[in-house]
Amino acid sequence: MSPSKLNMATRVVKQVSALRADFKVSVVLTLIPVIVAISMGLTACGDSKVIIPGADNGLVSTKVTMGGNEPIWPNDDPSVPDGGGVYQAQNCAACHGVDGKPVAGKSTVDFSSKDWGRQQKPVDEYDFVTFGKKGVEHPKMQGVLRPSQIWNLVFYVRSLSTAPLTDAEIADVLPVFGANCAVCHGTKGYGNGPLMKGNTLEPLPANFQSFPRFFDRTDDVLWDHIANGIKWEGMPNFLGKVDKKKNVTFDRDYCYKLVGFVRHFHESNKTEAATKEAHQKEDKEDKQPPTSTKPQT
Ligand code: HEC
Ligand code: HEC
Repeated sequence: MSPSKLNMATRVVKQVSALRADFKVSVVLTLIPVIVAISMGLTACGDSKVIIPGADNGLVSTKVTMGGNEPIWPNDDPSVPDGGGVYQAQNCAACHGVDGKPVAGKSTVDFSSKDWGRQQKPVDEYDFVTFGKKGVEHPKMQGVLRPSQIWNLVFYVRSLSTAPLTDAEIADVLPVFGANCAVCHGTKGYGNGPLMKGNTLEPLPANFQSFPRFFDRTDDVLWDHIANGIKWEGMPNFLGKVDKKKNVTFDRDYCYKLVGFVRHFHESNKTEAATKEAHQKEDKEDKQPPTSTKPQT
């Protein structure tokens, strides 16, 4: 990862807030005629449901903060192995077990359950572990750990149900990604593939390096978007398709593997130090900044 990624993350945060502000404005504008109609004593004929376009497509977060607390994004991809060290040092296992299975009488949530893990957004886990939650007694890591350590911890907890792809698995998927996804998303996942020359796609293909976007997604939502595509938005559906040249069928499991591949752009199976080293090496090899001129969300 590069300093440009941090800048981009910061930019994205701004963009997301701007989007949200726009969204609020448009909701208010949509509601004005309704309110006017109601206050004028008009009765609507038939179903008077107010439809807010794009309100429920899972692409824009309904919540990034919790009790006014903002998550602080890390400087680099969170490290799963370093998170393991924090899990041990903070004795999370006392209640959650070494393998994530709940300790009787201490907790009920099962970190080793794939179904549970796939429904968790990293940012919600971060907020919970950092700031706690009303009505739940739980150790709070705010002021105890640095934000980057908490992110490592979050991704370690996630790894107890779904391990990050190994380097060998990443190498296996790479040519499939190259043949089916990179044309839009770019080989490094910045959302700047060759199809993007001239910004032909609207919205832009997702930038997999964006923390604010991808830490705000569950694996199941990513799976759904890869499997079923995103209607009207240029993201094709892959479930059931076959890439004969690469000898791959995009079945349920392979789509989950692609989720893991997308995650490898913003989480690391290496220690923090090794991740930093690998990214510095990559940066040297590829001084290419993202080519897109539009901010990404
Ligand atoms: C004293 C026992 C205890 C300790 C220590 C503890 N937890 Fe928990 N944790 C709980 C309980 C209780 C819950 C609530 C759900 C449940 O009943 O299991 C919970 C829930 C969670 C959740 C799920 C929140 C949700 O949305 O359901 C996460 C993530 C979590 N803990 C992470 C951690 C981490 C990371 C540590 C170590 C820093 C830790 N916990 C330490 C008892 C504990
Ligand atoms: C024809 C261009 C194109 C191709 C090919 C393509 N995508 Fe996309 N993808 C997009 C666009 C555009 C978006 C953004 C949609 C939006 O923001 O609403 C997107 C979004 C996504 C998202 C983000 C969804 C979210 O929840 O934020 C994921 C994950 C994704 N693509 C994965 C893939 C994978 C994996 C492949 C290859 C198997 C692939 N895409 C191939 C154009 C493409």
